[in-house]
Amino acid sequence: MKNTKRKNCYGKHVFISGASSGIGRACALMFAGNGFHVVGVSRNTEEKTERFPGGGSLTLKRLDVTDEAAVREFVEKLPGTDIAVLCAGIGVAGPAETTPLELTRKQMEVNYFGTLNAAQPCRSRMRRQRRGLLIVIGSIAGRVSIPMQSQYSASKYALEAFTDAVRMEMRQYGVRACIIEPGDTKTGFTAARVMHSPNRDGGCYGRTLKRSVAKMASDEQNGKSPDTVARVALALSGKKNPPARVPVGLEYKALMQLLRIVPDRGKEMILSRMYLPKQ
Ligand SMILES: NC(=O)c1ccc[n+]([C@@H]2O[C@H](COP(=O)([O-])OP(=O)(O)OC[C@H]3O[C@@H](n4cnc5c(N)ncnc54)[C@H](OP(=O)(O)O)[C@@H]3O)[C@@H](O)[C@H]2O)c1
Repeated sequence: MKNTKRKNCYGKHVFISGASSGIGRACALMFAGNGFHVVGVSRNTEEKTERFPGGGSLTLKRLDVTDEAAVREFVEKLPGTDIAVLCAGIGVAGPAETTPLELTRKQMEVNYFGTLNAAQPCRSRMRRQRRGLLIVIGSIAGRVSIPMQSQYSASKYALEAFTDAVRMEMRQYGVRACIIEPGDTKTGFTAARVMHSPNRDGGCYGRTLKRSVAKMASDEQNGKSPDTVARVALALSGKKNPPARVPVGLEYKALMQLLRIVPDRGKEMILSRMYLPKQ
């Protein structure tokens, strides 16, 4: 990974959740390649430490972000927590009507509570050292709700609310918080998606869901490289006052601006056309 010699406002120690794949892995390599000492966690990873030419390092450890006590203990023992990039996440797809509560809970358990489990001990350490940057990986789906991804969207809207409040609470302690909002990105997310097949519920929604998920999968697999998101995260580490939220890429920035002025009914027409294809 190219060393871009950027300004660093927070310190050299970076904690990354979801570092074994996709956006988290790209962030881990990007920071380590730019001289940071990164500790990355995920459930399935070979535990190892790699050294990088610019003096950075990447240590990978196994950790499930849904295990609150284990995450707290892990974060408290880290050599430093100057920057935290909270990426661990999964996607659940299915019609809002038929998605079982257990899948909804799983979705919130990883994306929302998992992020909180990691954020809380990091922010306590950052508050004590009166410096730190919390970067949450949200989604465009946290700004506009996507049909057939109601639970995923809800988990990402929740992260927007959480991050906004944290930013206000922590400012007085020199701690900054922001949310990166990627759009379609080519990662392992597509293959890992859990889809609730409503066939067991009489087959309603079945075809629509299939087409909708196929559209999402194709958009993601033709989407941006995760390095694009990692570059945004690295750039934030050089900003004393990072913006509250950063959509990734000009087209998503423009889309967010446009959606500010489009009335709800118009938004829903656009999103329905995109994600509820007729054939
Ligand atoms: N790809 C997209 O189009 C897209 C768009 C917008 C936002 N995002 C967001 O970006 C983030 C990263 O996703 P990605 O696209 O990079 O997908 P990915 O390639 O599937 O990576 C997800 C990472 O999260 C980890 N993870 C999942 N559950 C975990 C748990 N319980 N504990 C610890 N780690 C866990 C995975 O590792 P293990 O399975 O080994 O635990 C993996 O490292 C997610 O929050 C996702 O919602 C993705």
